[in-house]
Amino acid sequence: MRPLKIAEGIYDVGVKDWNVRDFHGYSIHGTTYNSFLIIDEKVVLIDTVKKGFGDELLRNIAAVIDPAKIDFVVSNHTELDHSGCLPQVMDAIGKDKPVYCSKMGEKGLKAHFGNALNLNAVEGGSSMSIGRRTLTFMETRMLHWPDSMFTYLPEDKILFSSDAFGQHYADQENFDDEVGQAIVKHAKKYYANILLLYSAKVKALIESVVASGIEIKTICPDHGIIWRKDPGFIINKYLEWSEQTPAKKAVVLYDTMWESTEKMAKAVAAGLNHEGADAVLMHVRKWHRSDVITEVMDAKALILGSPTLNNGLYPTLCDVLTYIKGLKPKNKIGAAFGSYGWSGEAVKLLNAELAAMGIEQVHDGLKIQYVPDDNQLAACFEFGKTLAAKL
Ligand code: FEO
Repeated sequence: MRPLKIAEGIYDVGVKDWNVRDFHGYSIHGTTYNSFLIIDEKVVLIDTVKKGFGDELLRNIAAVIDPAKIDFVVSNHTELDHSGCLPQVMDAIGKDKPVYCSKMGEKGLKAHFGNALNLNAVEGGSSMSIGRRTLTFMETRMLHWPDSMFTYLPEDKILFSSDAFGQHYADQENFDDEVGQAIVKHAKKYYANILLLYSAKVKALIESVVASGIEIKTICPDHGIIWRKDPGFIINKYLEWSEQTPAKKAVVLYDTMWESTEKMAKAVAAGLNHEGADAVLMHVRKWHRSDVITEVMDAKALILGSPTLNNGLYPTLCDVLTYIKGLKPKNKIGAAFGSYGWSGEAVKLLNAELAAMGIEQVHDGLKIQYVPDDNQLAACFEFGKTLAAKL
């Protein structure tokens, strides 16, 4: 139900997008575009929503206050799921009213909307009084765009955290205490797909926020539920995920042509299991790449399997490996396997992919011609056991 009251005079007037299934290559089951209205001596809107949802946003605002009474907009993030409706909102509230953003936000918004907006860059660490309350701007460059920033409201101890601490989640619930632990898998998938690449910056930011001693009672991200019961929970999770300390777990990621590589994959996973490792078997055409990276994020090993096709890799492996490579998971070991008919280049090519991802190769790899017999499957099982010993 929107508008959603968060505190006295503070509302989420954003929208739920129940039907979105793809977010630039990341598979989701709906999301929300949160937008926050603060009513003080000045009336402020923090972030807008994706294009196409502007009428709903304006209706939600109007249920609280006449949109024309908004004095200015703060844009924490340029990406179009938060700024797509900015021109429509400015048309409704008054074209010339200020939009406050980071320096990089000014460049980004100008690149998207030309000179249509009255953009005003704020310094990281600067503050602005809006009456009883103060807005403090925190630059969070590359979390996850150059323009990203947080806005903190010290009087209410609310952090408006843009994409950070979000989840692509759309359901009836709006707060962490309403969802419980079920939200963790959504937050983890979001971290793996959006923030993993920037883990060093996430860790540094959290450490600096903790060191600053600012008190955070509520975290309002731009996607998903609001953390009001236990914001420390998601902050600690981010710290844990940013450190990328791997579990005794291996992802066995493969494709198969006539089931030979699949037989190998199952035998490798059984060998890993036999030695007490958690093996996650993922056929790349049955799992979305965004689910694969979520499993890879906290695994110690990435074990790749591919048949040889036309002297190369199975193309579906190339899709997911391109995606994983871009997100740069750390602290991994890896190995490769695959069946082949006559030329058998796949294992060598998978080893090259592991090297390109900075993954330590702990075995030369295992390749089997045509169909693995019982002895060869036993060798795959032993291969799995050998890998388990390296975890
Ligand atoms: Fe939710 Fe980076 O946009």
